[in-house]
Amino acid sequence: MQFLYSSFDSWAIATDEHERWLAERLSDERTLLLVADTSPGLPVGKARFEHRDGSWRLDYSIGPEFRELGLAAKMLGSALEQLRHRRPDARLRSEVKLSNAAARRTLARLGFREAATADNRSVYESP
Ligand SMILES: CC(C)(COP(=O)(O)OP(=O)(O)OC[C@H]1O[C@@H](n2cnc3c(N)ncnc32)[C@H](O)[C@@H]1OP(=O)(O)O)[C@@H](O)C(=O)NCCC(=O)NCCS
Repeated sequence: MQFLYSSFDSWAIATDEHERWLAERLSDERTLLLVADTSPGLPVGKARFEHRDGSWRLDYSIGPEFRELGLAAKMLGSALEQLRHRRPDARLRSEVKLSNAAARRTLARLGFREAATADNRSVYESP
């Protein structure tokens, strides 16, 4: 079985490699991984925050079957509340492809500002 792809480059990842990566993330206190689900229990999307170089890197996605339903800002807003509850002073950063209109729109809606653009990517920082 193969899994996953990155927001920037698509590639398949073997299940055992993904499971190893996930176990490391779940035991790392510099990582907060949140899954949004329906009631009961159907996963809809995820948000991951990783603390690196003084800020929390944000990565998030909505499952393909739940996209374009207006869920992204709701899910991410709720995930941000969880992070702020644990780390009130957290500074956030997210890199997004310039062509990723839905992701850019979602970050803007939540008050992120575009701090820089380079190589077809945009860097957003927390409000
Ligand atoms: C980015 C992502 C989370 C957006 O999720 P979504 O459920 O489709 O987004 P929503 O339906 O909530 O729409 C968010 C906004 O983008 C707009 N939008 C949605 N799809 C769009 C598209 N294909 N083109 C342009 N705008 C789009 C919506 O109109 C909405 O704008 P609004 O706030 O002004 O109403 C989803 O596309 C995804 O998981 N992509 C793969 C992973 C990724 O790119 N993550 C972000 C970088 S880490």
